[in-house]
Amino acid sequence: MISKPHGGKLVDKTIPDKKKQEILKNKKKFKTLKVDVEQIKDAKNIAWGVYSPLTGFLKKKDFESVTSSLRLSGGIVWPIPIVLDVGSKDYKNIKGEKDILLVDEQNTPIAVLSDIEIFDYDKDFFAKNVFGALDKNHPGVESIYGMGDHLVGGEIELLDDTREPFPELNFTPRQTRKLFKDNGWESVAAFQTRNVPHRGHEYLQKHALKTTDGIFIQPVIGEKKVEDFKDEYTLACYELLIDRYFPKNKVILGVLPFKMRYAGPREAILHALIRKNYGCTHFIVGRDHAGVGNYYPPFAAQEIFDQFKQNEIDMEILKLSEVVFCQKCVDHRFVNGCKHEPESKISFSGTKLRESIKNRQQPPDYIIRPAVYGLLSTSGNSLVDSMYKSTSGQAKKGFVLWLTGLSQAGKT
Ligand code: ADX
Repeated sequence: MISKPHGGKLVDKTIPDKKKQEILKNKKKFKTLKVDVEQIKDAKNIAWGVYSPLTGFLKKKDFESVTSSLRLSGGIVWPIPIVLDVGSKDYKNIKGEKDILLVDEQNTPIAVLSDIEIFDYDKDFFAKNVFGALDKNHPGVESIYGMGDHLVGGEIELLDDTREPFPELNFTPRQTRKLFKDNGWESVAAFQTRNVPHRGHEYLQKHALKTTDGIFIQPVIGEKKVEDFKDEYTLACYELLIDRYFPKNKVILGVLPFKMRYAGPREAILHALIRKNYGCTHFIVGRDHAGVGNYYPPFAAQEIFDQFKQNEIDMEILKLSEVVFCQKCVDHRFVNGCKHEPESKISFSGTKLRESIKNRQQPPDYIIRPAVYGLLSTSGNSLVDSMYKSTSGQAKKGFVLWLTGLSQAGKT
């Protein structure tokens, strides 16, 4: 049986067309608030049930409860506040309003935020609790200190239900639940990633497939830190990998429009609950999940789950150890999966992979499939084109055609 949504019910904050038209006809009566691409992703995730049981951006009581105790005020586990920040100019504009209209940069209506509550918050409290750090070198902490000084909570009613970018891969939880059912999958492992696939990732995915009917590989797309891979490259690499190196009908590739927070352990919980909402029964947490630098011990993202009762998370967390290449076995292994001495074991990571790419050195095929590396090298003269140089995070439009082209190129 595929998973029940977190909190028991899949949230749906989309609205019927007729009501939508009515709201749009009367849109002038609302004060508006401009939201950026990442905030739009959060609004849509709320509306489509990706963040069930959340029905809107958090209000003060829930913000404080989640931040301090990893639970919504009603007691349900929730590890990272999903909030909407406003600066002082916007604050003055929307103060005293009951309902406001969220619009994008071009003033296109995105959603109504109703029954709003505007409140002040303590950025140190937010950063210290959620990230365990106050150091602005941490990209998640930096983003907190870049936020407006007020938060606005309220219920979402979605007006814009377009699914950009990558609409073909951008499933709603309702759709994946149907897909899993149609495939006859009763157990589905979810794999979270922000990287192009290395052989360690593939080993984890194939390991999970030994105990589940299928795997849902769902790279996060959206703003990431400098030198993380661009979304279009990650997706192109996965299309090729799945096509060539996985059994047929065992893998579904989707995207998760979501801003990486790099909150390590807390983010691992959020990643798991999101995938539960998509219907997955298992969730893979490996080494240094959602980590950055040395902020979190390598297995803290596994240990954090131990503080909850099984029925509070209600999915199987596959806590997998470090994948290495053992030169004696001439194969990949979990680090303690064979008796050979540590010196014969080569460990690897996304960080190492990025270094090789920056230095234009093709890594050995036990690190990355040559065809996958080949795809990265189609990025022109410079392989580093596949990585973020700034944190703008804007994904390319019209990507799918381009992606298909890349996948084809990789096949030759
Ligand atoms: S993450 O930020 O999305 O966690 P990444 O895409 O690198 O980063 O990792 C995806 C998943 O693979 C995470 O669960 C991570 O812990 C796991 N992982 C990555 N490399 C290894 C490795 N060498 N050994 C074990 N797990 C790994």
